[in-house]
Amino acid sequence: MNSPAPIITIDGPSGSGKGTIAKRLADRLGWHFLDSGALYRVVGLLAEQRGITPDSPGMLGDLARTMPLRFDGEGRVLLDGEDVSDAIRTEKAGNAASKVAAVPQVREALVIWQRSYVKPPGLVADGRDMGSVIFPGAEVKIFLTASAEERAARRYKQLKEKGLDVRLASLTAEIRERDERDRNRSVAPLVAPAAALEVESTNMSIDEVFDRVLDRVKDALPNLTWN
Ligand code: C5P
Repeated sequence: MNSPAPIITIDGPSGSGKGTIAKRLADRLGWHFLDSGALYRVVGLLAEQRGITPDSPGMLGDLARTMPLRFDGEGRVLLDGEDVSDAIRTEKAGNAASKVAAVPQVREALVIWQRSYVKPPGLVADGRDMGSVIFPGAEVKIFLTASAEERAARRYKQLKEKGLDVRLASLTAEIRERDERDRNRSVAPLVAPAAALEVESTNMSIDEVFDRVLDRVKDALPNLTWN
């Protein structure tokens, strides 16, 4: 692939901190940001609303190809003009996303969407298969991990801060179940891409993780300018 702009991929399981790190990096660089999970979440949400299950892979693929989705550039996700930014962030939407994400027709439909985000001055892409499948030629690849307990605890804290009534035990169980599905699916399973920097962040603060990632980016792309 001949890329029109440099790409940094940040992959990892749910709750690994990849979204926070990727967003912060994109802001510092003044680059575009792709939250690929949001695409799968929107497909999951729509599929549930329309009662389409993974038993109808062709219909799910069509849904992914034709969904009236738009990002407003300020972090809001609009579906047919309606703001679904909060609706796609629920645990339910995350689980629905991970089910449709195992359907090859859905993954294929989303390839074009995802590659269309590569624009100058550069792209930071956050997901599960950014470095392994969607952008294998990326200049920098990062793979973030943390134990399932730590990831569930981080998620628990975030949700509690939003005033939601959640239970740590069920969050941990859901995270494990989602990991299992994401790692074991036959298409684009969650794996560390070749040549990725792996950061195991269980005992690290978000600032420590960010500094580690930044060092790697500066090594690989020494001529970058920073905000
Ligand atoms: O990252 P996020 O939690 O928003 O992703 C939701 C789900 O979408 C994941 O559990 C995964 O199944 C799927 N996904 C994927 N490939 C990506 C991004 C997300 O399969 N690149």
